[in-house]
Amino acid sequence: MNEGRRSLASPASAVAPVSTDRWSLAGRVALVTGAGRGIGLGCARTLAEAGATVLLVARSGGEIDAAAAAIAADGGRARAHVADVTDPAQVEQAVAAARALGDLRVCVNAAGTNRPGAAHDYPLEDWDALFAVNVRATFLVCRAVGAALLGAGSPGSIVNLSSQMGSVGYPGRAAYCATKHAVEGLTKALAVEWARARVRVNAVAPTFVATPLTERMLAEPAFRAEVERRLPGGELATVEQVADAVRYLACDAAGSVTGSVLRVDGGWTAW
Ligand SMILES: NC(=O)c1ccc[n+]([C@@H]2O[C@H](COP(=O)([O-])OP(=O)(O)OC[C@H]3O[C@@H](n4cnc5c(N)ncnc54)[C@H](OP(=O)(O)O)[C@@H]3O)[C@@H](O)[C@H]2O)c1
Repeated sequence: MNEGRRSLASPASAVAPVSTDRWSLAGRVALVTGAGRGIGLGCARTLAEAGATVLLVARSGGEIDAAAAAIAADGGRARAHVADVTDPAQVEQAVAAARALGDLRVCVNAAGTNRPGAAHDYPLEDWDALFAVNVRATFLVCRAVGAALLGAGSPGSIVNLSSQMGSVGYPGRAAYCATKHAVEGLTKALAVEWARARVRVNAVAPTFVATPLTERMLAEPAFRAEVERRLPGGELATVEQVADAVRYLACDAAGSVTGSVLRVDGGWTAW
């Protein structure tokens, strides 16, 4: 794996002019981790549609290169940057690459993982792997982006991906639930600490979404039926629905929203 900048996949080298439309991200740079597939990819696409210049970050260069090229083909602005976000030096490089693109204002932490398993014999290796990506990496990226924004005196919006399991439990998900509860705690603490600097920090908490992460779980008919039974409307959320919630929090339209967890969970946690 080669870390660092991969490609410019943008029809225009300059960032778009800043917009006063509170739903627009024109003129702003958005760093999106986990942007090669699933929810992160959907967020990158949606933020680009909202006018942002997007830096797509993940370890698989081929995926983020293809995603950046697809965004550019649709008229958006995007670059790909390979990094393992559990590594502090690579995170610093990714944030520097985002700042080099222009006015870094938005960050979405969608890099995440899950390894389900019964708690009584859950491997510590898996526990550590989940905390490394879901918690440590989220903190590292928040820390680097927060430092950049505070240093520049610039307002900004950070959105962390939690889960319905950031507020409830589920069998076979002790490690995952613990990491997502941690993400929500981190989100609230940073929101309070950075509020005076006008750096907003929020989380989006989806229910199950069909992505490469959940493909195998949801392919099992009994598990899928159980998930649908727990959802009041019986339907999973879509990548686009999650990305739209992220977009809202990223925009000035959410100017007074910080320290919040926006649930996109079909009502899972409401009953
Ligand atoms: N899908 C769901 O049902 C669901 C529900 C609630 C919450 N979520 C949360 O939403 C987020 C995205 O989930 P998803 O379903 O889209 O997952 P996914 O399909 O597995 O995609 C995960 C992305 O994260 C990247 N990534 C993982 N480890 C990384 C690392 N160390 N450094 C850089 N990038 C890394 C992956 O790329 P590389 O492997 O190439 O690095 C990939 O682009 C996660 O936080 C997940 O917990 C998902």
